[in-house]
Amino acid sequence: MGASTSLSFFSFILFLLLSTAIAATSFRPKALLLPVTKDPSLQHIIQLRQRTPLVPVKLTVDLGGQFMWVDCNRAYFSSTYKPARCRSSQCSLASKSTSCGQCFSPPRPGCNNNTCGLFPGNTIIHLSTSGEVASDVVSVSSTNGFNPTSPVSVPNFLFVCGTTFLLDGLAGGVTGMAGFGRTGISLPSQFAAAFSFNRKFAICLSSSTKFPGVIFSGNGPYNFLPNIDLTKSLTYTPLFINPVSTAGVFSAGEKSAEYFIGVKSIVINSKTVPLNTTLLKINSKGIGGTKISTVNPYTVLESSIYKAVLKTLTTELGKIPRVPAVAPFEACFNANNFGSTRLGPGMPSIDLILQNKNVIWRIFGANSMVQMNEKVLCLGFVDGGVEPRTSIVIGAHQIEDTLLEFDLATSRLGFISTLLGRMTTCSNFNFTAKP
Ligand SMILES: *[C@@H]1O[C@H](CO)[C@@H](O)[C@H](O)[C@H]1NC(C)=O
Ligand SMILES: *[C@@H]1O[C@H](CO)[C@@H](O)[C@H](O)[C@H]1NC(C)=O
Ligand SMILES: *[C@@H]1O[C@H](CO)[C@@H](O)[C@H](O)[C@H]1NC(C)=O
Repeated sequence: MGASTSLSFFSFILFLLLSTAIAATSFRPKALLLPVTKDPSLQHIIQLRQRTPLVPVKLTVDLGGQFMWVDCNRAYFSSTYKPARCRSSQCSLASKSTSCGQCFSPPRPGCNNNTCGLFPGNTIIHLSTSGEVASDVVSVSSTNGFNPTSPVSVPNFLFVCGTTFLLDGLAGGVTGMAGFGRTGISLPSQFAAAFSFNRKFAICLSSSTKFPGVIFSGNGPYNFLPNIDLTKSLTYTPLFINPVSTAGVFSAGEKSAEYFIGVKSIVINSKTVPLNTTLLKINSKGIGGTKISTVNPYTVLESSIYKAVLKTLTTELGKIPRVPAVAPFEACFNANNFGSTRLGPGMPSIDLILQNKNVIWRIFGANSMVQMNEKVLCLGFVDGGVEPRTSIVIGAHQIEDTLLEFDLATSRLGFISTLLGRMTTCSNFNFTAKP
């Protein structure tokens, strides 16, 4: 009796030990969490931890970027850095090209023989170079959609080595860029592969430089204070693939990694802006259409679209007089002429009509206008000149305090064009972990 009791007690202890060990090793996050800080340079910046030992690495978010790249030239120390060897599975995941790199300097991260390469690009100043593909440990916080949960790491996270001159024009302290584009090695694709969650991420940029916004990689919910679940409020629109790459360096036949949506018309105060609708479609050369970008601080419109929007808006604003322009904007007004609403300066909304007239991305004053100083408000759109590659580039100011969910598997965008109407903001995620 006594023996069997102690035996079962022992089994019970063993069971407890085993089950806690299994729980610890099989912790599968539902999603990852990346706080995003708005820098005074208007870049949106994430910080993750990389290398062994782990160090914080700040990266400018490039929504349509192909991959993560970091400066390997300066202060890259890690015992787990591994260059991707030619013809390895990592190289074939990273690129269709089978070119094999050599480096004629002493070996170091970014300089190894028999490695495959890619072209890291600074999409803020439009500068690209070549760099070695490599992997290293990356650690980020997980989330249950309400709070941060424990940090998790990906042991062999692929990235590309950039060099120090590629950091020109990036915010202070930033040592690379984080690409969330439509490729097999962008951040969301690698996170999805590592933790087997859906190839999906959601981005919510803060309008304030004081309080961060958030990127969720993986599944919802997306819960913001005061206890608002935004998952059910999303409107969906198809994402389009541009058949021609929009990257700085690319090879023939390569598709764009950027996210395009189908804007069919623009309506202001129920007046349709007269536009050449050919510009709204992506042609066979990859020219035209509408994309979303975090590296453009403001929306850029092809010149004829810009002029037409400005004209319709000016007509709708009636007697409100203009004040001298403040660069980079043209249409500026005395701020006292606008009432203040929950959705920003009281302004006619600018509606982007998507797949049908019921699917509307509605831009209210908080996203259309930019406060230059206490007295001056300007329309936050800029003239992109004639024949730009993409006719409408929806920039960072226009997606602040909106929630955008990119689903790569189903190729659709879920969006809420302003969280202000839902009584919250992108800086209202509860970053306090449960004790
Ligand atoms: C790569 O190989 C070349 C030729 O064998 C050699 O000169 C060079 O030092 C090697 N570079 C590295 C980084 O090992
Ligand atoms: C509309 O835009 C297309 C593409 O730029 C151009 O070829 C065409 O001439 C334009 N049509 C008009 C009426 O301006
Ligand atoms: C944020 O989450 C923490 C941990 O669950 C909780 O204790 C705290 O009350 C939450 N904050 C607010 C403002 O609800």
